[in-house]
Amino acid sequence: MKKIDVLLGLQWGDEGKGKIVDVLTPEYDMIARFQGGPNAGHTLEFNGIKHVLHTIPSGIFHEKTINIIGNGVLIDLYIFQKEIDKLIERNIDARKNLKISKKAHLILPTHRLLDAVYEQSKGNSKIGSTLKGIGPAYTDRTARNGLRIGDTQRTNFIEKYNHLKNIHLEIIKNHQLKIEDLQIENMSFSEYEEKWLTVVNHLNEFDLIDSEYFINQALKDNKTILAEGAQGSLLDIDFGSYPFVTSSNTITAGVCTGLGVSPDKIGKVLGVFKAYCTRVGSGPFPTELFDNDGEKIREIGREFGSTTGRPRRCGWLDIPALNYAIMLNGVTDLIVTKIDVLNDFEELKICTSYEFDKKTINYIPFEAEDNLLTPNFQQISGWNSNINEIKTYNQLPEKLKNYLQYIENNVNIPISIVSNGPDRTQTIFRNSK
Ligand code: GDP
Ligand code: IMO
Ligand code: MG
Repeated sequence: MKKIDVLLGLQWGDEGKGKIVDVLTPEYDMIARFQGGPNAGHTLEFNGIKHVLHTIPSGIFHEKTINIIGNGVLIDLYIFQKEIDKLIERNIDARKNLKISKKAHLILPTHRLLDAVYEQSKGNSKIGSTLKGIGPAYTDRTARNGLRIGDTQRTNFIEKYNHLKNIHLEIIKNHQLKIEDLQIENMSFSEYEEKWLTVVNHLNEFDLIDSEYFINQALKDNKTILAEGAQGSLLDIDFGSYPFVTSSNTITAGVCTGLGVSPDKIGKVLGVFKAYCTRVGSGPFPTELFDNDGEKIREIGREFGSTTGRPRRCGWLDIPALNYAIMLNGVTDLIVTKIDVLNDFEELKICTSYEFDKKTINYIPFEAEDNLLTPNFQQISGWNSNINEIKTYNQLPEKLKNYLQYIENNVNIPISIVSNGPDRTQTIFRNSK
């Protein structure tokens, strides 16, 4: 009996999860997404191509690997079809190795309108949502109003669809908005809805499954599975900086509910973090930089959202936040990405503790949500050289190794992979000499 390994982000998302999953896929029989939806943007680069996935797991480019969209994931049929079409342009027919849970919930076109309406009504306290309908769709799931992939195969689907849509339209009307004036992805509502509904008729071309049985049976049959997280631990609905979070459990616990595996079946937990921090959207960010260093990281790291194109906020690495995420997830192995982005710095900083309420602390209290933490930094010398083409750990500059060693000493988990560029080949495995 195998256990399921987990790979997830330890910061505020965009840690480079997609790239690493793609690199690790040859080691696994299956890759499974367990939460989130098209708010995710997972970038893969190889053979000079760059590809961004939103709903489809990042193992899809490996023909022999089964990719599973679990019950915890939200699917917008329009975005899903666009992803399928883009893969076809790259000669990948996802119908061959993609399986979708019948219990995965749907994001209706009206969920997207509601997301925009609710964000608008928040005024200055906007979450900075990706506006993909995530909050409203998970709300309907919890309120037991939601529609699922399996429902699309039932004869009364359109009836159920219209029922939920009409509930949403009432809410929109109550906000003094007219459906004719609202757009989704530069389309009128009815155009978007028509395209979305067309996909319903093609869903039976995919393998729609009871994914919890499929996954548990696969583990019994000694198949290896990697669960791919979306967003990051600090955006978790329970433990992130509420309300500036996403609407799902992004941490390891989400694997159990989002795929239907019991906690004793969790194997390795691979935590991915950037060598610095970024955040897109609103909310507290203790180590955020507002100076040239922040600008430099944004430019060199190409820190602009994969899903929305928004500039990402940038800051130094935050050890207490990393330790928090490690604790919540039970991380067994660390993977550091984007280390090359720090090539050109004389001095680097790492946050080791915070000043809060006239005390020095190294945890994240409830009050962190009110932006009340001031970071204390340790200065570390930079390596000041280009490391993008280095292939082995031993060849890395001593100062870079010191930077990584400093992190390891402060989190007590080994760093097993170092990513030194966006391409598949720019990945250094610590243990391979
Ligand atoms: P994800 O959401 O965690 O999959 O991450 P994103 O794809 O949204 O953002 C990560 C960005 O950094 C993408 O543009 C990747 O191509 C890029 N990337 C990943 N790893 C590295 C790395 O080690 N160095 C550099 N320079 N870029 C990287
Ligand atoms: P990946 O998987 C970074 C952020 C949004 C916003 C908040 C809530 O690519 O790492 P939502 O659309 O969920 O209502 O937005 O969460 N957010 C992400 N930030 N990476 C992501 O995904 C994100 N998904 C959501 O910017 O602040
Ligand atoms: Mg992303």
